[in-house]
Amino acid sequence: MEKILPEIQHRRARRALSAEEVPNDVLERLLHAATLSASCFNNQPWRFVVLKKGYGIERARARLSQGNYWAETAPVIIGVATRPDYDCDLDDGRQYALFDCGMAVQNLQIQAQHEGLLAHPIAGFKAAELKEDLGIPADHILITLVVIGFPGTDNELNDKHQELESSERVRKDFDEVVFSGAWPAQTRSAE
Ligand SMILES: Cc1cc2nc3c(=O)[nH]c(=O)nc-3n(C[C@H](O)[C@H](O)[C@H](O)COP(=O)(O)O)c2cc1C
Repeated sequence: MEKILPEIQHRRARRALSAEEVPNDVLERLLHAATLSASCFNNQPWRFVVLKKGYGIERARARLSQGNYWAETAPVIIGVATRPDYDCDLDDGRQYALFDCGMAVQNLQIQAQHEGLLAHPIAGFKAAELKEDLGIPADHILITLVVIGFPGTDNELNDKHQELESSERVRKDFDEVVFSGAWPAQTRSAE
């Protein structure tokens, strides 16, 4: 594992965040990294709503699910939105807008890790309400919020989250997710 890029190897979805402001130039670099992502036909389906002090962050804070209480201290939260027709939408059902948003968020996370920042995507928030609060049109999908800040102390975290801060990474076994040559026969569905 030692040849994995350090930004990938050491990135974790940590929750102990400092309230320290993120300098604007650093934040711009994260967003620039995100927009340098590949996308189907170069459609660039991602839209980012940047929320920080004086720019609506309390709207996101108010819509966090209970379990994401830790994100309330974050100085920056970025909403990631798209619409399926912003990107390749193929006749056989393959839609690439969400896929490409995920690629962009991954770029942002890698750049954040490089800058010494945490960038933690979350699904736990009231999406319909927040979309309305932020003026995001109803036909768009607010797919994630990326919670961003410098690492902080874990004093404010609950016991479970304190433990997770330094936990081992949990991943499925390789042979459950990596197949050689073809899909493994025993898990083919209804054939
Ligand atoms: C799409 C997505 C949604 C997530 N939602 C939440 C969330 O609502 N709250 C949370 O604490 N972590 C959330 N996470 C973080 C994951 O739990 C975390 O990435 C996973 O457990 C793997 O751990 P690692 O990122 O440290 O390797 C989310 C991650 C992703 C990619």
